[in-house]
Amino acid sequence: MVDKLKKIWLEGEFVDWDEAKVHVLTHSLHYGLGAFEGIRAYRRGDGQTYVFRLKEHIDRLFDTCKLIAIQPRFSRDQVAEATVKILRENGMEEGYIRPLVYVGDGAMGVYAHDNPVRTMVVAWKWGTYLGTGATENGIRAKISSFQRHHINVSLAKAKMMGQYTNSTLAKREARIAGYDEAILLDTHGYVSEGSGENIFLVRRGKLMTPPLSASILEGITRDTILALAREEGIPTSEEMVTRDQLYLADEVFFTGTAAEVTPIREVDNRTIGEGQVGPVTRRLQKRFFDIVRGTDNSHPEWLTRV
Ligand SMILES: Cc1ncc(COP(=O)(O)O)c(C=O)c1O
Repeated sequence: MVDKLKKIWLEGEFVDWDEAKVHVLTHSLHYGLGAFEGIRAYRRGDGQTYVFRLKEHIDRLFDTCKLIAIQPRFSRDQVAEATVKILRENGMEEGYIRPLVYVGDGAMGVYAHDNPVRTMVVAWKWGTYLGTGATENGIRAKISSFQRHHINVSLAKAKMMGQYTNSTLAKREARIAGYDEAILLDTHGYVSEGSGENIFLVRRGKLMTPPLSASILEGITRDTILALAREEGIPTSEEMVTRDQLYLADEVFFTGTAAEVTPIREVDNRTIGEGQVGPVTRRLQKRFFDIVRGTDNSHPEWLTRV
């Protein structure tokens, strides 16, 4: 359950939590056309709160709008400002922030080209996304029976609302079967990503992840981890990955704003490596948490003070 906070930013104004409502004829509610983001803010070692990679998240929100051809009424700077202010308005030191651009009510039917495009920003407190202890001990994942959209079925680089029915189906299937998360293959059978995470594997010291030309979201945490791996002198490659490469990997982990850096200790009941958090994962995870929560000041460009 999301704990109720004080304010939500809706169409340029902060309104009371319970007053932030939409009409039942909201077009996006029926047809799923809309763009959103998931952003985290952390309290760092200096006691101050910072939003992590705000610019990249706002840029991806507007990229999604471009991909799905909707035009927000607000500028990038206005949405970025609302993302920072929502934390202040709610007195939050840490939290998850969700900007969302959606098609409002007016005409019905899938076209409805002239319906108003509305923007909102909401924040809530969110702990470890994949369950207590997930980032320390790792999780159990299952290859989904649902495939990631073919690149021409939808727009893989869009963080688009409707696309998440695919994620939801995969996630529910995995959880009901007793696993923590789903890993989706693409329609050619290659490993794509989790329901809300990118995926990495380590084999003989080399870090691998599917390329951007695959059916994956261009994850901002993915980019962070690739940058940190290069700084750490870990060889990296972006290449197509098969499920047997996952089973034989020494280490596998997920990255995502919600999931952060979560080790995967088991895929389809096969133990990955020693079934523990591996050394490369641990090293990269440590760098990540030292930057977002600690005192590693090597990437000031990734941090926006609240
Ligand atoms: C489908 C999917 N893949 C990957 C990611 C990871 O992206 P990021 O690291 O930018 O949060 C997310 C989360 O936003 C996602 O929903």
